[in-house]
Amino acid sequence: MTVAENILILTGAGISAESGLGTFRDKDGLWSRYDLNEVATPEGFARNPALVHEFYNARRENCRQAQPNAAHRALARLQTEHAGKVTIVTQNIDDLHERAGARNVIHMHGQINRALCAACNHRWDAPAEMSPADTCPACGANTTRPDIVWFGEIPYFMEEIMSELSRADLFVSIGTSRNVYPAAGFVAEARAHGAHTLELNLEPSEGASRFDARRLGPASKIVPAWVAELLGRPL
Ligand code: APR
Repeated sequence: MTVAENILILTGAGISAESGLGTFRDKDGLWSRYDLNEVATPEGFARNPALVHEFYNARRENCRQAQPNAAHRALARLQTEHAGKVTIVTQNIDDLHERAGARNVIHMHGQINRALCAACNHRWDAPAEMSPADTCPACGANTTRPDIVWFGEIPYFMEEIMSELSRADLFVSIGTSRNVYPAAGFVAEARAHGAHTLELNLEPSEGASRFDARRLGPASKIVPAWVAELLGRPL
């Protein structure tokens, strides 16, 4: 395979698992301990904003204590050292890609460290703890929420993501079960535009056969190995 020009990488919770952040659907994953309808939907937030803020305050603290792992660092190196463009699209709300040195990370499900005003759409850096009593720093309304895309809401940056997918020579899916659309459909979109497709995951994802190639194992091992191979030198 020629060295790919444009690479689009999609990451999911599995890339942050070895940093100590939970995944969603693995054994004892987040959705086995919390009802996603209560903490990850607009309806759940309307019913009980205090519970939802409590859930995300705990995840914000977990993220603050977590450290990027070798997989996050390897992707940042790839972005710096690869001759072509490397776009990182993540479903994760943590900031571990950025803390490993990655740039222009596209957070399609929002970010745990950002807050949003539902009244005026103002966004700002979230405090460590958010509560229903918070008011928007721009319009003063009492309508603040975590800047997270909940189930039933439209993911962010879809136009930009689709445009990057149409130009990708190589699409790599890392650490995602591919249970949630539209991210789960990116591999088909990339293939339709002629990209080579690779899955790096602990175990085969839903419909893993759609990938041209697959490597199984923990991200902290298989991602650095793949990046070193692609760059033609040890990391
Ligand atoms: N290394 C590589 N892959 C791993 C590791 C690891 N150490 N640990 C787990 N995985 C893989 C699992 O095999 C699984 O395929 O990561 C994937 C995690 O899947 P999910 O828990 O479903 O997480 P994700 O795919 O990111 O979920 C997508 O669903 O709940 C929503 O918005 C939420 O962004 C999330 C979306």
